[in-house]
Amino acid sequence: MGPPGAGKGTQAGRLARAHFAAHMATGDILREALATGTPLGQEARRYLDSGTLVPDRVVLGLVEERMRDGVAQQGFVLDGFPRTVPQAEGLDAMLDRLGAPLDGVLVLAVPEEVVVGRLGGRRTCPDCGSVYPAQRRPPALEDDRCDRCQAALTVRSDDRPETIRRRLEVYREETRPVVAHYELRGLAHTVDGVGEVDEVASRLDAAIGRLGMTGPEGARR
Ligand code: AP5
Repeated sequence: MGPPGAGKGTQAGRLARAHFAAHMATGDILREALATGTPLGQEARRYLDSGTLVPDRVVLGLVEERMRDGVAQQGFVLDGFPRTVPQAEGLDAMLDRLGAPLDGVLVLAVPEEVVVGRLGGRRTCPDCGSVYPAQRRPPALEDDRCDRCQAALTVRSDDRPETIRRRLEVYREETRPVVAHYELRGLAHTVDGVGEVDEVASRLDAAIGRLGMTGPEGARR
């Protein structure tokens, strides 16, 4: 968990690979549905574009569908979900039914001025999903083209300054209470998300070690 731009996608992808787990990012699933024009994508568009949350019933439905696809047996890292208290309660019920309790909830703490800087200049590849942050990893071959597949890079529709501000408000109002929900149950572990990606990754690995799970070092391919 963490505010927009905290590094959830970056770190959750790495953790999932290291632990051979599925990476379930509700934002990615919704953007994929939008890009392919499914009914779910059409319903989600206005929420994604405005930086507000897609209705709980839609998000809970799509997470449950993925869980039924066998993701729960494999182990999973949830990214960007749950984002409201009803979603957290829905997840609790789903995991009870599956007999798969949460190992822990990692919360990336990053000040708002840092996330605004990170998200403001981000470009993404609409074809392969590669991300090009403003200051790092500029496309090597041709500016504004993806290094990997040459598609023209785009700016995410919710990375406009006014929408970033709205997303931060939504995080404060609707998602911070979810962190409190897990803090009360002793499941939340807050990690400093400022610093190089590898530094943050080391802090997360240390927090995971404290949860009593196998650290990623031994599990890496
Ligand atoms: P979602 O896709 O989840 O967006 P978000 O939470 O706003 O998160 P971001 O993807 O912008 O940031 P992140 O924390 O993943 O950071 P990242 O690793 O990308 O959701 C989008 C929308 O979908 C929502 O607004 C909502 O409409 C809908 N939605 C999704 N889930 C929902 C749910 N459960 N319920 C209802 N609606 C839902 O990093 C950001 C940038 O920083 C990148 O450029 C990255 O390269 C860079 N970066 C990462 N780490 C570092 C570092 N340590 N130092 C410097 N730069 C870094």
